[in-house]
Amino acid sequence: MAKLSIKDLDLKDKTVFIRVDFNVPLGNGGKEITSDKRIRASLPTIQYAIEHCAAVVLGSHLGRPNGKPNPEMSLAPVAARLTELLGKPVTMAPDSVGPELAALKPKPGEVLLLENLRFHPEEEANDPEFSKQLASLADIYVNDAFGTAHRAHASTVGMVSYFPLAASGLLMTRELEWLGKVTSNPERPCVALLGGAKVSDKMEVIQNLIGTVDKLLIGGAMAYTFIRAQGQETGKSLVEAEKVNLARQLLSTAAGKIVLPVDHVVVREIKPGAPSEVVTNIGPDQIGVDIGPKTIEEYARIIRGSKTVIWNGPMGIFEMPPFDIGTVALAKAVAESGAVSVVGGGDSEKAIKVAGVSDAITHISTGGGASLEFLGGTELPGVAALTDKSAAVV
Ligand code: 3PG
Repeated sequence: MAKLSIKDLDLKDKTVFIRVDFNVPLGNGGKEITSDKRIRASLPTIQYAIEHCAAVVLGSHLGRPNGKPNPEMSLAPVAARLTELLGKPVTMAPDSVGPELAALKPKPGEVLLLENLRFHPEEEANDPEFSKQLASLADIYVNDAFGTAHRAHASTVGMVSYFPLAASGLLMTRELEWLGKVTSNPERPCVALLGGAKVSDKMEVIQNLIGTVDKLLIGGAMAYTFIRAQGQETGKSLVEAEKVNLARQLLSTAAGKIVLPVDHVVVREIKPGAPSEVVTNIGPDQIGVDIGPKTIEEYARIIRGSKTVIWNGPMGIFEMPPFDIGTVALAKAVAESGAVSVVGGGDSEKAIKVAGVSDAITHISTGGGASLEFLGGTELPGVAALTDKSAAVV
């Protein structure tokens, strides 16, 4: 269901609260931003609001401060970076609620960034009084925080009830459009490439996508649970014993759709520089750390023949080269396929960067957990709270 967009609203001389996801990685005791990707991703919505003469109040969480102020999780470095990126000053508020905010109320064209919402336990508790206080700061509510849309918190759900309408920002709209398209109406053949350590993290995704996709290629450590389910030796590779039965059921119900690795890069000990070899059958003392060359060839062939690729998770221990070879090779195959490609998850995104193919990917999601829940078929509470376009009287 399409949601009301910021573009549907008259913003002129109004104060708009934009829930953004500025949960960025910080280094140096919280002083340095190590990736400003999420800040950049929010710029189009913020700029749109400024250009349409709105006064902008931005709200976000950063990290998990457990409901207490923590200087290492302050959004102050984000205000500084946003000032640079917007080319105009962003005022940093000392808190997200409270009497001192009255004096900081932005004028049209100005931007105020509230301090970390999670410094108050009421944010995660979705507390009505806290929601009301946040809502009192603005005339209009916009949610652009796709990365936090799987959380039912005060700023993503609670405060919505204090506004007649709740609209999606431009990033939120783009995320929902691409993720929605590939999961509900993909061009075919449609392939899902799923990796990562645990089957348990991806079970809902597998169960939800199996009905939609034409092929589901499995890599990473989660493949070993499926290989065990087929009755093959997995040596000392990571296997989730309690998921073997479920993996067996999936293999029998989705016969022909689930594709598993046919060879593996194995080591005897996981450490940088560990000697490795390629095997078809994993020996009792061996640990699988990447997909092998025949698997790369076969998966790349399937990907190149597809029109849609959904990718989440690495094919091996990506953070320890050379066990990133499979993941990087498939990133290149996705780029070469010319397919509509939607990627989620930090490691897949890193692989795309290492492979130098970011520009060839249709959509790289800013939400790790949120995109996984979306692919798993869960309705995200932060999205459900937004006004349906068809129901809106603007
Ligand atoms: C994320 O990085 O996945 C989002 O910002 C949500 O953060 P959370 O997992 O701490 O709720």
